[in-house]
Amino acid sequence: MMSRVRCAVFPVAGLGTRFLPATKTVPKEMLPVVDRPLIQYAVDEAIGAGCDTLVFVTNRYKHAVADYFDKAYELEQKLERAGKSELLAVIRDVLPRHVRAVFVTQTEALGLGHAVLCARPVVGDQPFAVILPDDLIWNRGAGATKQLVELAGREQATVIAVQDVPIEQTRSYGIVATRDFVGRHGEISAIVEKPRPEEAPSTLAVVGRYVLSPRIFDLLEATRPGAGGEIQLTDGIAALLKEQKTLAYRFEGRRFDCGSRMGLIEATLQYALEDDTLAEPTLALMRQALGER
Ligand code: UTP
Repeated sequence: MMSRVRCAVFPVAGLGTRFLPATKTVPKEMLPVVDRPLIQYAVDEAIGAGCDTLVFVTNRYKHAVADYFDKAYELEQKLERAGKSELLAVIRDVLPRHVRAVFVTQTEALGLGHAVLCARPVVGDQPFAVILPDDLIWNRGAGATKQLVELAGREQATVIAVQDVPIEQTRSYGIVATRDFVGRHGEISAIVEKPRPEEAPSTLAVVGRYVLSPRIFDLLEATRPGAGGEIQLTDGIAALLKEQKTLAYRFEGRRFDCGSRMGLIEATLQYALEDDTLAEPTLALMRQALGER
């Protein structure tokens, strides 16, 4: 069932209300962590996993995402004339040549499941990855998507990234119940969207990385709007796991919820501390701030 995963889908048509007023004009995925927008980290992760077709599901307000991946002629000319070859390489490298970007419009924000369904004409009948750019995953080794793709290939299964969360946070996530957890993965027996802690089947929360069988498209077509009047990806997955092997995978790496203000701050600190030129000044700043408390 699982052949090579070539397509990665980036659902970026949400409203990003938690970052208003910035997201009035700047899509959430364009918010930077240090000097790169969230979408760039997500794209690099997909390419690192072997994907060569990137499908962005956007809405009519999100020109900035398409503009970002377009060629910036004027800027390139200016940098070329000024002999700034390093900066030129930085802006040219946002997408390598062998990778194509396809933009699909979600005309109404009808939910994550609906956004994934919008990518169907491009993805077709092959397994594909879904990456939510506001879940930024840092790892020293293989990127999270690569880890999922490898497991999906080995086990011939759909794979969903999960992470343990405190029990009081279950209402912010899709939560899975698993049969047999071996090492980092286990087969999913049930999935529930945003359960109250007392109703949660576990504390294993779904985070924004998936490798899905194309069968999900038919199941999403048949899914009626659920919680919040939206077509939930969780409902599609709940139907899928009744038919096909569907695994939960505790990925290696540290996830930052960059859809929240604190998550974006934490991510910025982490990436600054990993940067040769920023680590020392960032530490100095933190020491100074602590001394002042
Ligand atoms: P979120 O639940 O984080 O919603 O969506 P949001 O609108 O982006 O942000 P807040 O909560 O209002 O601040 C999860 C993912 O699903 C995408 C979002 O872009 C995000 O990547 N999404 C959601 C869509 O593409 N379309 C939708 O209709 C809903």
